[in-house]
Amino acid sequence: MALPSVNPTKTTSWKKLQEHYKTAKDLKMKDLFAKDSQRANKFTITWDDFYVDVSKNRITDETFKYLLELAEEVKLKAAIKSQFSGDIINKTEGRAVLHTALRAPESAVVNVDGENVIPEVYNVKRSIETFTNEVINGDRKGYTGKPFTDIVNIGIGGSDLGPAMVVDALQYYKNHLTTHFVSNVDGDHVNEVIKKLNPETTLFVIVSKTFTTQETISNANTIKSWFLESASQEDIAKHFVAVSTNLDAVKGFGINPKNIFPMWDWVGGRFSLWSAVGLSISLAVGFNNYDSLLKGANKMDEHFKNEDFSSNIPVVLGLISVWYNNFFKAESEAVIAYSQYLNQFATYLQQGIMESNGKSVDRNGNAIDYETGTLIWGEPGTNSQHAFFQLIHQGTKLIPADFIGFTKSLHGNTDHQDKLISNFLAQTEALLNGKTKAQVEDEDTPESIVPFKVFEGNKPTNTIFINKLTPESLGKLIAMYEHKIFVQGVIWNIFSYDQFGVELGKQLASKILKEFSGDAKNEHDSSTVNLLKHYRENS
Ligand code: F6P
Repeated sequence: MALPSVNPTKTTSWKKLQEHYKTAKDLKMKDLFAKDSQRANKFTITWDDFYVDVSKNRITDETFKYLLELAEEVKLKAAIKSQFSGDIINKTEGRAVLHTALRAPESAVVNVDGENVIPEVYNVKRSIETFTNEVINGDRKGYTGKPFTDIVNIGIGGSDLGPAMVVDALQYYKNHLTTHFVSNVDGDHVNEVIKKLNPETTLFVIVSKTFTTQETISNANTIKSWFLESASQEDIAKHFVAVSTNLDAVKGFGINPKNIFPMWDWVGGRFSLWSAVGLSISLAVGFNNYDSLLKGANKMDEHFKNEDFSSNIPVVLGLISVWYNNFFKAESEAVIAYSQYLNQFATYLQQGIMESNGKSVDRNGNAIDYETGTLIWGEPGTNSQHAFFQLIHQGTKLIPADFIGFTKSLHGNTDHQDKLISNFLAQTEALLNGKTKAQVEDEDTPESIVPFKVFEGNKPTNTIFINKLTPESLGKLIAMYEHKIFVQGVIWNIFSYDQFGVELGKQLASKILKEFSGDAKNEHDSSTVNLLKHYRENS
């Protein structure tokens, strides 16, 4: 079954929301809290180890009701069912979208083209487990008989961002192996990583779904040449493994077929860390932790599939985001994690969210006349408080923000943890309440300075409070955002799982590259002509 196709702006609920917005835009959250002592309880969802408080939003019971009606009208329930059951919902590429199958239990049955994919998923999982154990235990050795000390993940986009973010986030659970990530085609990136490596004790994991990506193949070739300066061609089999759907191209690179971890075209790059693309994660934190990550994601999948929409975390977050994006015309959303471990989380989400929902054509091929994908950005708190929070508090833009925090710190330093969480709580309170003129005047502020110290407040936030950062809770958190992406794609009536927009730049780059070696002559605009000349004269 194809995804239902409903123009959201033609629904009754959308019209109700438009009408409702005329008054809701002037709502003061402070007043809503004052009027209703149950507001926080009413707009908080507790599930497993997640405490999700969405009460600090410009929403009322009426808003919530209409948003839920919108979810019904765009047939979200049917769309969720369609995704999980392996329907070809990535219609423009003719593929199913089944990252959820990668974390399903072994007893599950998920058919693609009439064939259950779960047994194959578990075959690959078992080979990841065996390989991981052999590397960590030192049973697998490099070409001089020494155990591996370093892992290098060579990939870009979804073949880099997910594994890199998770390895960084789970560094508390890491073993003795040092993990490196090479992604950029900038040769200085790969050379800086090479500087730290000993070829005798380094394992290279080349991750590329297509095995044609310029950046990844260039970096893999550069590393291979460097490796062959001290090792022989036969040694490649011991030191290079690959994750890909393109088995012929991998073999062409010289990798032993036994060292290829397959993936499938029904796994999108930006949703692939749950497949063998997560091999570097498994190597870095051990298979059991990697498996817990997947189990956490599966728990969120079950919640998303089965929970009533009114208490369904990804659905509620997706709807609230649509409220700001399409009615308040908020351009961006910030994701602020109060955990240094989640340093790369916003960067990771940027690909997931913006590559998926940065679309301007609907599922019928028509140009869209309403807003779709939001801009995502963020940095961990408290650092971000000293960087860009000024603009969120007192700037002219409305920036809804997700605040993510963990009640327990991993190292157990309560002094730091109390300070961290006091900031976490203080910021959403400050964003809600602001500071009135009267309050500023009470502080004996000189009259001429008063306007500059007034904070309007009324800035929306979601608080996602989780007990502890574990592989399992991280799995839930990532899956929560994946499903939020899906919810919004369904509402906006777009295809979230293709990414044709990144192709044009790639094509032009390869044409320009040929010009550098004199193999092609292209027509360019005068700006590009000048820039090319400048490069030739100064490189
Ligand atoms: O940037 C486009 C893209 O296709 C992403 O969707 C993908 O994650 C990335 O390139 C890398 O692709 P591959 O894994 O095929 O090298």
